[in-house]
Amino acid sequence: MTELLRDNEAGIVRAAQLLRDGALVAFGTETVYGLGADATNAAAVAGIFAAKGRPHFNPLICHYDSADAAFRDVVADTRARVLAAALWPGPLTLVLARRPLCPIALLTGAGLDTQAVRVPAHDVARALMRAVGRPVAGPSANVSGQVSPTTARHVLDGLDGRIAAVLDSGPCSVGVESTVLDLSGAEAVLLRPGGATVEEIEALIGPLVRGAAPGAALRGPGMLASHYAPTLPVRLNATTVAGDEALLAFGPPLPGAAALFQLSETGDIGQAAARLFEGLRALDRPSLRGIAVMPVPLSGLGLAIDDRLRRAATPR
Ligand code: TXA
Ligand code: MG
Repeated sequence: MTELLRDNEAGIVRAAQLLRDGALVAFGTETVYGLGADATNAAAVAGIFAAKGRPHFNPLICHYDSADAAFRDVVADTRARVLAAALWPGPLTLVLARRPLCPIALLTGAGLDTQAVRVPAHDVARALMRAVGRPVAGPSANVSGQVSPTTARHVLDGLDGRIAAVLDSGPCSVGVESTVLDLSGAEAVLLRPGGATVEEIEALIGPLVRGAAPGAALRGPGMLASHYAPTLPVRLNATTVAGDEALLAFGPPLPGAAALFQLSETGDIGQAAARLFEGLRALDRPSLRGIAVMPVPLSGLGLAIDDRLRRAATPR
């Protein structure tokens, strides 16, 4: 049985104690729920891969309560410090070189000489990190290949009985995962668009190398084309919808769908991001033929939404 913990002092203390003992605890962040383990404990981290049913050791992000704590484990250059000062706590993950005495288990970074780090913009998550006093490894708290969870209920739908606890801090405000930026080399490489926009990052450190740069497949092994996927086939850029299809709408909905989930009536991209994974889950019903998706604008958070939708639409 997985314990459901409230986001009060007692819940945070209990979650921290479980994590320090090597157990798995899911926790809310501003992006999505993470499946936490003590990042310095390789056995605990191995438990993450087992619980998610992840076929490969895909490197995990470490979560911290402050940039100072993060930069004790990895080497931060000027770009990293500028970004951290402006965008942390927040939905940005930085891939940086491990320090020689970095205490993080190698399995956490899948054996790479880099480590992804981030400081989440969620008070409960940061209070948890403080209480644990160690970096907390955390992929999204979903079964491998399924959609990322944005509520404690979503976490339990996939992982009930497979993890020790979930710390319920309510629905996630951003709703898509963090932006992953590789700063381990001379070029700043965008490995995954996400909650921090390319526009705000580029305003701080200049142009990014985007998409599948040479070697990006290796540097971001989690960027498998099909990664965020409901069971039903997903059809992008729909301009019409069939009577046996569900519609994921953005703005005024197309007529005639068998089921409708509105990402944002008013075309608010932030609201759409926060509701995206909820919508993909809600429409994933066996009685329907597929999910038709209306287009979203490709700027700001729209880039991250479009990226997740393409993955959801990749045939498996
Ligand atoms: O918002 C988020 O980032 C959430 C919350 C829980 O923090 N976490 C999350 O983790 O989405 P996950 O494991 O589902 O995605 C992490 C991504 C993967 O694509 C992984 O391959 C990439 O980051 N990544 C992690 N460490 C890396 C590294 N050292 N080098 C390159 N890519 C890395
Ligand atoms: Mg994930």
